[in-house]
Amino acid sequence: MNVFITGASSGLGEGMARRYAVPGAVIGLCARRANLLEDLAKAIEAKGARAIVYAVDVADTATMQQTAEAFITACGGQVDLVIANAGIGIPHRTLQGESEPIAKLMRVNVIGVTNTVVPFVPAMVKRGSGTLVAVSSMAGHRGLPGRAAYSSSKAAARVFMDALRLDLHGTGVHAMTLCPGFVRTPLTAVLDNKLPFLIDCEDAVTLMVDAIAARKKTYSFPWQMRVLGFVLRNATEGVVRKLSPAARTRAPE
Ligand SMILES: NC(=O)c1ccc[n+]([C@@H]2O[C@H](COP(=O)([O-])OP(=O)(O)OC[C@H]3O[C@@H](n4cnc5c(N)ncnc54)[C@H](OP(=O)(O)O)[C@@H]3O)[C@@H](O)[C@H]2O)c1
Repeated sequence: MNVFITGASSGLGEGMARRYAVPGAVIGLCARRANLLEDLAKAIEAKGARAIVYAVDVADTATMQQTAEAFITACGGQVDLVIANAGIGIPHRTLQGESEPIAKLMRVNVIGVTNTVVPFVPAMVKRGSGTLVAVSSMAGHRGLPGRAAYSSSKAAARVFMDALRLDLHGTGVHAMTLCPGFVRTPLTAVLDNKLPFLIDCEDAVTLMVDAIAARKKTYSFPWQMRVLGFVLRNATEGVVRKLSPAARTRAPE
């Protein structure tokens, strides 16, 4: 299977890249930290797969277009799976009146997703197969206190994939969204409070890879967060303030 993954230099993206690295596979590794991607590429090649490193900022639309074209060519036109996983969090800025950090987050978490998946659409439609995945978050199911930018960016990514799936109906190409709860990765390592239903990265990767294979539409995990997400979606704002894990955690700097 030929797989292109953004945010492959750490956490969930790295975990998925390692998981898809089987003999014969071609894995496209995209992130900004080239040294980490090169190390990962060596580990992947040692497993008998081919790894291609793209040290690119997902917010750069023109370069992401060229990157997609280069990967499609490297795979002889056959790209099976694209995972738009790169994402960032920011400190709580809304009450400070600072919009630039929010704009930066949107460029990575929203534009970065469209920059990643859209350039692959024509080649996949032509072949009549393929899966496009966005990594959203449980935080995208409801606007959460202290997470206005992050929640809305993740909601946008999910709704974009919902609409794309409708556009792709009948083409053989599938668009889907993964919504993790809290996973032990560098992203959550900077959160200083106890995170509810925190799971290990390897366990999360297993759930994500299985959900992709099953061609789910939107997959939220772990199941406890699915329940919490349902409650949060339907709760009053008073209850959301009380229940929201984000309200009790400090955002990464
Ligand atoms: N961990 C959780 O609890 C959790 C929960 C819900 C959702 N998620 C989502 O899951 C995804 C992966 O997160 P993670 O926990 O694995 O975090 P992570 O370990 O911090 O990894 C984030 C990845 O995104 C890449 N990235 C960030 N900005 C980028 C940019 N402008 N261009 C290209 N790559 C960029 C980083 O690579 P470089 O710095 O090298 O560019 C890194 O590889 C994110 O979208 C996150 O929002 C995570």
